Amino acid sequence: MRILGIETSCDDTGVAVYDAARGLLAHRLYSQTPIHAAYGGVVPELASRDHVHKLLPLVQAVMREADTAPAEVDGLAYTAGPGLIGALLVGAAIGRALAYAWGVPALGVHHMEGHLLSPMLEPEPPAFPFLALLVSGGHTLLADVRAVGDYQILGESLDDAVGEAFDKTAKLLGLPYPGGPQLAALADSVDASRFEFPRPMTGKPGLDFSFSGLKTAALNLVRAHEPLDDAARAEIAHAFQAAVVDTLRIKCRRALAETGYRNLVIAGGVGANRQLRAELERMAAKDGARVYFPALEYCTDNGAMIAYAGALRLAAGQRDPEPLDVLPRWSLEDLPPI
Ligand code: KG4
Ligand code: ZN
Repeated sequence: MRILGIETSCDDTGVAVYDAARGLLAHRLYSQTPIHAAYGGVVPELASRDHVHKLLPLVQAVMREADTAPAEVDGLAYTAGPGLIGALLVGAAIGRALAYAWGVPALGVHHMEGHLLSPMLEPEPPAFPFLALLVSGGHTLLADVRAVGDYQILGESLDDAVGEAFDKTAKLLGLPYPGGPQLAALADSVDASRFEFPRPMTGKPGLDFSFSGLKTAALNLVRAHEPLDDAARAEIAHAFQAAVVDTLRIKCRRALAETGYRNLVIAGGVGANRQLRAELERMAAKDGARVYFPALEYCTDNGAMIAYAGALRLAAGQRDPEPLDVLPRWSLEDLPPI
């Protein structure tokens, strides 16, 4: 079974061809970052328009690279939510139109399911059940993953997502959009910091998160040290990142203890963070657990994870309902098992 996957939930146009027998045949990502950079954040209308321009040429390029003709495609998978409604509608409309033209089934895929199954694309995938930490620009959650489609959210952010906190703090430090990776690079440029940030919600039981306080703590430090010199900027970034990484490690450790699981999957854009990866590897090694990361290119938004999740569900006979619909808000817990 060969599936074409389409991801257009936010500001990246991702396309991939996944073959159940041979694995990922080709994938490409077109990033809209330069378009949104001038505005300091994603402009939804510009995102939708650019997906319209880029999606079909990208589909053609990926099909060529995968040496796949339309007649060889067995199904279409596109991101149906959560995300920006206009951006989602572009992927859904083009995905369903192609499926209709090629006479194959289409299926709307949950973006976060794509993220949490993305480590399955690696040579040594984790076995079910496992604990998943999803850390992206829009979501931060810990999920008990018992099987494909059998997810229980154990904890989530009550306010900002981790990626959002990275991006907002980066902006405070005067870093260009998208700030997360730039803030991480600045943080890694120094070995220590004279500053200390709180570890929110780690002192009381539970697996929920809160990251908006860290952004406020950063704002207070920036104000207190204005005009900021390079050393202070780097040390604020360092202390911020250390607090986020520490908080995530504490909650992952707690969730592993509560579930009794040994396998931890990290997915979503912030999963690309080097300190987070190193710290969780250290924790896992100490506790006899194992941590699985998708390759860096599958941490951030991509078409491969959508093609993969779609392939599993299409193979199980799941199909889109008749009317075209996308879900800007959609809980992982509402997904059917396969
Ligand atoms: O999963 P993703 O590509 O898109 C969403 O579904 O949101 O995640 C994007 C988020 C952004 O907030 C970005 O700043 C953050 O992931 N990010 C990072 C790093 N790389 C990407 N945050 C911290 N360190 C990084 N290395
Ligand atoms: Zn994402």
